[in-house]
Amino acid sequence: MREFTQPEQVSLTINNEPRTVVAYPGETLLYTLRGDSLGLTGAKPGCENGDCGACTVLVDGVPVKSCLVLTAEVEDHHITTVEGLREAPIQKAFLDHMAFQCGYCTSGFLMLGHALSQHVDRADEGRRTEWLRSNICRCTSYQEIADAVTETCSSLE
Ligand code: FES
Ligand code: FES
Repeated sequence: MREFTQPEQVSLTINNEPRTVVAYPGETLLYTLRGDSLGLTGAKPGCENGDCGACTVLVDGVPVKSCLVLTAEVEDHHITTVEGLREAPIQKAFLDHMAFQCGYCTSGFLMLGHALSQHVDRADEGRRTEWLRSNICRCTSYQEIADAVTETCSSLE
């Protein structure tokens, strides 16, 4: 990783599009994604401490909490945000199961569920439960979220 002492250009791929952004030293990926140049506000700032998962995005297909990752660390990597999941089956499953109320946590759970569905061979119930534990919802029951993720993984087996 390059170490910044001043704002520098960082190239990365976001939702399959090559992008170049200017990032400040210590700037998190969450901040960069939501900033004016990208405007991808689907990843939400919650705790900004790695606890809630509202900021979850995929880096090279793996869910990460973007409040804990520096933009400089993901230079030349592939980032997927909820804006890149418009056609993903997990979106319909969340609607069908009403797996949200206020929706603040939803994009983070969608990212987790989508990533799991990409690895259905390893997404048994224990794995799904373990992954979903990393995110917090203050509104709805976790059952609807788990059902939506289970349905998505099952439909792709
Ligand atoms: S905002 Fe990143 S984990 Fe809560
Ligand atoms: S739906 Fe409100 S925090 Fe999860």
